[in-house]
Amino acid sequence: MTEKAPNHVKGEFKAAVTFNSELKSGYWRMGLEFAGPGAEAFAGTSPGQFAEFDLSTTGLPVEEKIPVHLRDAVKRDVLLRRPFSFSRVTVDSGKAVVELLYCVLGPGTVRMTTLRRGNVINVIGPLGNGFSVPAGKTLAILVAGGMGAPPLQHMAQFLTERFATTDVIAFAGARSKEDLPYSTQLDKISQELGFSLREFANYGIKSSIATDDGSVGFTGTVTDCLSQWLGQESPPADGTIIYSCGPEPMLAAVAKIAAEKNIDCQVSMERLMACGIGLCQSCAVECKCDSDSEYKLCCKDGPVFDAREVNF
Ligand code: FES
Repeated sequence: MTEKAPNHVKGEFKAAVTFNSELKSGYWRMGLEFAGPGAEAFAGTSPGQFAEFDLSTTGLPVEEKIPVHLRDAVKRDVLLRRPFSFSRVTVDSGKAVVELLYCVLGPGTVRMTTLRRGNVINVIGPLGNGFSVPAGKTLAILVAGGMGAPPLQHMAQFLTERFATTDVIAFAGARSKEDLPYSTQLDKISQELGFSLREFANYGIKSSIATDDGSVGFTGTVTDCLSQWLGQESPPADGTIIYSCGPEPMLAAVAKIAAEKNIDCQVSMERLMACGIGLCQSCAVECKCDSDSEYKLCCKDGPVFDAREVNF
């Protein structure tokens, strides 16, 4: 039997900001609290599901707080909602709090930096499917590239809370140390024990870091690091599953490695998602269909797909 969090309830809700702070230059963390029906819906969010935020009425920060290279671009109105997945979901006293990680990249995310505790935004979700856990998996390998980190942090929480007998290990990669969307690293002893990133160490999960330029961790891509580890450890193929999120070339490489080793693999795809509910057709993902191909919608059929299904 495959298990995932119940995710049948969705809708349009108000959410109150509980915190919004800069994790490191350009990377922010935010908490959103849902009460009532919103809490009921978001308490069951599966790792990998997402929500669409309405930022059309959120103002810009003062000019000095806008990165110089974005000052012209951010003046555009934010008419379309913006999709975000979550890094952690908690439920307390009938309220659900979702945490997210975002990178300041354009008009929407620059505006998000102005949100303060108590501000309220309109959110549609939770949307899409999420990662699932097939029966019999004793090892889950999380592979994150750059800003693919949040849903895998949520998956780390989900697996450790619900699958006590499944070991979890994480690999996180980026071009350089500056591009890793994580908080400061742990002390040297923790690192020697393999607890490289606090976001996974908090769940007792060992993690490896890879950077293309070797500024921290393994020198090379996260997929090279994964390949090396699989070569050394040879985990049993049928008891292992890989969950991955990140840039598409990285996902293609992870899918190839998984296929070669005959390991199950689920990938969370990224597309421009204007509506998030299957209406605008802006988020097509080419999938295999017998000897041909077919297009599925990232927002509705995904964003999580079996890696064997996607035509990379
Ligand atoms: Fe509109 Fe997928 S985002 S159809």
